[in-house]
Amino acid sequence: MLRLKNKKDIDKIRSSGKILAETFEIIKEQLKPGITTKDIDNISDNYINKCKAKSAFKGYRPYPEIPAFPASICISVNDEVIHGIPSSRILKEGDIVSLDLGVDLDGYISDAAITLPVGKISEKNILLIKVTEECLYKGIEMAVTGNRVADISKAVFYHAKKYNFGVVRDYCGHGVGFSLHEDPQIPNYIGSGQNPRLKAGMVFAIEPMINIGGDKIYILDDKWTVKTADHSYSAHFEHTVAVLEDKTEILTSL
Ligand code: MF3
Ligand code: CO
Repeated sequence: MLRLKNKKDIDKIRSSGKILAETFEIIKEQLKPGITTKDIDNISDNYINKCKAKSAFKGYRPYPEIPAFPASICISVNDEVIHGIPSSRILKEGDIVSLDLGVDLDGYISDAAITLPVGKISEKNILLIKVTEECLYKGIEMAVTGNRVADISKAVFYHAKKYNFGVVRDYCGHGVGFSLHEDPQIPNYIGSGQNPRLKAGMVFAIEPMINIGGDKIYILDDKWTVKTADHSYSAHFEHTVAVLEDKTEILTSL
């Protein structure tokens, strides 16, 4: 179901998104070789709780066939695309790490992701991260009233294709705000499916997942972690945005 948000709703989602953005800032300061992904989860959980909010991911279970997500934040390293589970894995120089976080503040949900370098990383990975973030902003630029969902998808897809990167097709952006996943779906490729026109009051998450190699993925035995089939490195950027009458506002930035 697609549920439009009023000004008060958007104010609450913005407050939720601010906590999310602050959490990323705190993690950025502490991210260096030697830290474990579980350490990052603790930093995230502590800060969100301190703000009287909670993680929208912890305990999330989209289908009965899979276990509930056990941590506050998804941490996906190198060839992991999304949904990595925090663990005792130690990050090392040259890794790239994608952080994906959902914050629930009084029932108002924001969702965002960033990919960060650990120490010094390769030129190829610097380009991957830069282009993936650009894909997100190209998509956001198209998220204006009167356009359609496919205008966002096209902008993301063609930018990644300029660099011959793989665009993950198995996961999409989505409406967000009252729950983690609402309509509409926002694919990062051009294809079939619904293609609603954008209108004021829509709040959704745009989230390109881009691989240096091919677009194929597989899921690990933990039932969550998504990896690239060819083990090429992958980056992920996501913002929650609100479509307003005269502009589009990013709700998950400071
Ligand atoms: N940002 C992701 C999404 O929108 C993560 C959700 S999966 C979870 O689909 F289990 F971690 F919640
Ligand atoms: Co999302």
